[in-house]
Amino acid sequence: LVSTTTTIRRLGDFVGQAVTVQGWLYNKRSSGKIQFLQVRDGTGLVQCVAVKAEVGEETFATCASLTQESSLRVTGLVRADDRAPGGYELTVQAVEAIQIAEEYPVSLKEHGVDFLLDHRHLWLRVPRQRALLKIRAEVERAVMNFLDGDGFTRVDPPVLTPSSCEDTTELFQTKYFDEEAYLTQSGQLYMEAVAMSLGKVYSLGPAFRAEKSKTRRHLIEFWMVEPEMAFCDHEENLRVQENLIVHVVNHVLEHCEPELHVLERDIDKLRAIQAPFPRMTYDEAITWLQQHDYDIKWGDDFGAPHETALAGQFDRPLFIERYPTAIKAFYMQPDPDRPEVALCADMLAPDGYGEIIGGSQRIHDYNLLKQRFEEHHLPQDTYAWYLDLRKYGSVPHAGFGLGLERTIAWLSGIEHIREAIGFPRMLYRLYP
Ligand code: 4AD
Ligand code: MG
Repeated sequence: LVSTTTTIRRLGDFVGQAVTVQGWLYNKRSSGKIQFLQVRDGTGLVQCVAVKAEVGEETFATCASLTQESSLRVTGLVRADDRAPGGYELTVQAVEAIQIAEEYPVSLKEHGVDFLLDHRHLWLRVPRQRALLKIRAEVERAVMNFLDGDGFTRVDPPVLTPSSCEDTTELFQTKYFDEEAYLTQSGQLYMEAVAMSLGKVYSLGPAFRAEKSKTRRHLIEFWMVEPEMAFCDHEENLRVQENLIVHVVNHVLEHCEPELHVLERDIDKLRAIQAPFPRMTYDEAITWLQQHDYDIKWGDDFGAPHETALAGQFDRPLFIERYPTAIKAFYMQPDPDRPEVALCADMLAPDGYGEIIGGSQRIHDYNLLKQRFEEHHLPQDTYAWYLDLRKYGSVPHAGFGLGLERTIAWLSGIEHIREAIGFPRMLYRLYP
């Protein structure tokens, strides 16, 4: 038998010809004399029709022996068929079973989430999880395309650090020979150093937070994109964020339409995401919440219900600007006209996905930063290098951190952030 080995995605190039597809059995139906094998190969799903009278007893018996997730090679003629998922069908000529799978734990019926998470290594094969992995890859690609095209240089900050960046969140501690070390919460401080070398820089990597929060927005290990820009102020920082998000949304709409369909995402809602994004100051947000009967006062931080209500007024992400300096990180530049608020903003996604970006202008004055260290009781020795940056050609600079999983969860319209990463690390879950 002469055939070309191809992927399911490319079947359209071979209509009327014999091809071989290698993959896994997703599902099977049988009507005695005909078997319908649904085969997936990572690029798509194709129905393969085996007719007993045409393929013969032996091949037909091989088809019958295939269980869910058995690995196989199937050879057949490509037929265009509008009714078929993907638009093509294979008329089976030969089948080779590579391994007959044991009974697959993640069967095609409903399962509880704990069971699915215990079997994450197998759960990842279902179309919905495949779609999410694909969207994640495209979001990363879109971020890199945008920043690379806008003059940013990617720099990789360290994962093991001697000090904390976000003094408001918990650290993972580990031994570093005879010293204490922490897994990074954010590469920002290092990105500030390299911004003074390269101008515009960004990192894309993991961050770790030992927070005891069990919510649909929190992971213990998540990935962050952290751009940092020299000679950049608060206003410019928000413009970059807005343009980045619009670019990512457009890229996903352009490259992930089949995946968004699998996830049943309302695509029109994504099409509405255009710049400029609405803005509210923290002060306005507090007033709005009070007018809507929330029990909150100036100086309090927002909780998830507040963020959901605030963002719920708009069909695109919302910036909340100028939070009280006292509830934000030590490095944020106070507003010169009103030092009790910081030149910072959080970007809140629509539909209750919460904060997808946190960013600010950074303190560039040596004395002010030194004073902040004292107020926050931060050990001067581990931060000496960071303070140093303010001694040698310090300039106004700004940056932000985009949470990848929250962004993916929002774009995909999934309930919980845990499905936005291959192997989620959550409170009480380190397996698989
Ligand atoms: O607001 P955060 O804590 O900001 C920083 O870490 C800054 N140093 C970033 C910077 O300016 N370079 O975190 C940034 C974003 C959040 O907006 C959120 O999207 C995400 O990271 N994030 C989390 N995502 C999942 N699980 C968690 N536990 C997260 N904590 C923060
Ligand atoms: Mg934040």
